[in-house]
Amino acid sequence: MSTLSDNFRVEQAAASDDSIQQVHDRLRGAKPDKEHGYSKTPLILLGVMCTLVFFGSIYVAHYSIRFDPLAVNEHANRAKPEKAGAVKLTRAQLGKRVYVANCMLCHQADGRGQPNVYPPLAGSEWVAGSEERMIRIVLHGLNGPITVAGKQFNNVMAPLGTVLSDDQLANALSYVRSEWGNTSPEVEPANVAKVRAETAGRKAPWTPEELLKIGQ
Ligand code: HEC
Repeated sequence: MSTLSDNFRVEQAAASDDSIQQVHDRLRGAKPDKEHGYSKTPLILLGVMCTLVFFGSIYVAHYSIRFDPLAVNEHANRAKPEKAGAVKLTRAQLGKRVYVANCMLCHQADGRGQPNVYPPLAGSEWVAGSEERMIRIVLHGLNGPITVAGKQFNNVMAPLGTVLSDDQLANALSYVRSEWGNTSPEVEPANVAKVRAETAGRKAPWTPEELLKIGQ
């Protein structure tokens, strides 16, 4: 049976336990733990990190272009439809420029040349004839008496082989062969390259006589 005085003694002992504890704490130098181990700072940092991860994933999902390497490769060949209005020019059309810049001075814009000086290309049997002969004339030049469309000429045409590429020469000849009533087929750059290689050692201009010996 506990009595009133018993209870008092127990309380007194508990109180003295507490005070003993406090005295020990003070002696150990322990700091008073006001918040019972609870600190706001890590929680705020955790919140900030979660937010960053969240928006980070949205960003990646939005801009990752599904990790397709071709999407960022500007040289990738992704069969695009040709631009509307992009017209592909024929050799003859491309050749007009080359003709204007390199032949027109002598053979004239209308391809008729100048009487007694520059032979015509319009209606010329040399233009309608062997492709190889024409290529040789432009590559190395021409020198000596020549008959063109029934008229005699005896003049010199300078070589243009070092000035014109295979492409340019093929285009110019294609133009000449399809203008002013001429109706001969286009000239391919590969054929120009072939003749260029075969006649690489040639220095002097051809004579019409020499060229007439070359097959048709
Ligand atoms: C500096 C003047 C001059 C230029 C530029 C010139 N030619 Fe000639 N061409 C001549 C002359 C001159 C002859 C005739 C040479 C002769 O009498 O042997 C000739 C002859 C020709 C012939 C053979 C004859 C004929 O009339 O069919 C052809 C084809 C020809 N030229 C094409 C061209 C082409 C294509 C160009 C431009 C890539 C060109 N010529 C640039 C002066 C020129």
